[in-house]
Amino acid sequence: MRAFVTGGSRGIGAATVRKLAADGFDVAVHGFHHPEEAEKEAAIVRGLGRSSFVVLRDLGSAAGPVDAAADLARQWDSLDVLVLNAGAYDRTPFPDITDDDLLACYRLNVFAPFALTRELLPLLRRSSAGRVVFVSSQLAFAGSPRGAHYASAKAAIVGLSRSLAKELAPGITVNTVAPGSIDTAILAGDTPERRRERGLAIPLGRVGEAAEVADAIAFLASGHASYVTGATLHVNGGSRID
Ligand SMILES: NC(=O)c1ccc[n+]([C@@H]2O[C@H](COP(=O)([O-])OP(=O)(O)OC[C@H]3O[C@@H](n4cnc5c(N)ncnc54)[C@H](OP(=O)(O)O)[C@@H]3O)[C@@H](O)[C@H]2O)c1
Repeated sequence: MRAFVTGGSRGIGAATVRKLAADGFDVAVHGFHHPEEAEKEAAIVRGLGRSSFVVLRDLGSAAGPVDAAADLARQWDSLDVLVLNAGAYDRTPFPDITDDDLLACYRLNVFAPFALTRELLPLLRRSSAGRVVFVSSQLAFAGSPRGAHYASAKAAIVGLSRSLAKELAPGITVNTVAPGSIDTAILAGDTPERRRERGLAIPLGRVGEAAEVADAIAFLASGHASYVTGATLHVNGGSRID
């Protein structure tokens, strides 16, 4: 069984790479700015007895998603699990978000997962049980002051996921994980005070760990989720309950 994880070099993606490898998948690891981290994750996969290779492409560029899919297709002729995790959260007040900012945000967070899924569909269709898992955000549902571009991009992912769940059935399931505040580089700018405040605002009393999101992704990627499609799995410590 073969899985491809975008943004597998760090954070939630890296935790997902490790979890899927532990679950028995060969895992292709994507990254861009941190190739050494991607290579490190690939080595961890190989250390677990599975095969792995690295795909290094800028998913914020126009050509990056198609090039990444071509890189993958040169190595594998089929794919069982596609995890669209790469993303970035830029905070800017709404009046200062330019069209270029919006386009850059949408390129990485919407265009890339959209195009990668389209380009890799022929490989997914060769799987006996294809799985696509998108990574959205709690902010798609809660809204984000100073993050209108990011929150709207992550909301687009939910519509994309639900649409593809219907269109790609019955051969491929399509689901979304919506993390809340998770302890990765995305929260690295937090002061200790801000981190404490975040924890206090969450019913489970703390921010989440990347591995806890990886567990949810791995569930949706597994045979245990064979009758789950079009779902959004919230992994947010109860901070928002829909
Ligand atoms: N952490 C949270 O609180 C939280 C909450 C809700 C949703 N999320 C979502 O969860 C996903 C993973 O985030 P994270 O918290 O794990 O963040 P992270 O630690 O910053 O990791 C982001 C990943 O995306 C990749 N990436 C970023 N820009 C890229 C680009 N231009 N081209 C290719 N790859 C790129 C990075 O790879 P390189 O560094 O190698 O380029 C990295 O592997 C994102 O979609 C994020 O929006 C996170």
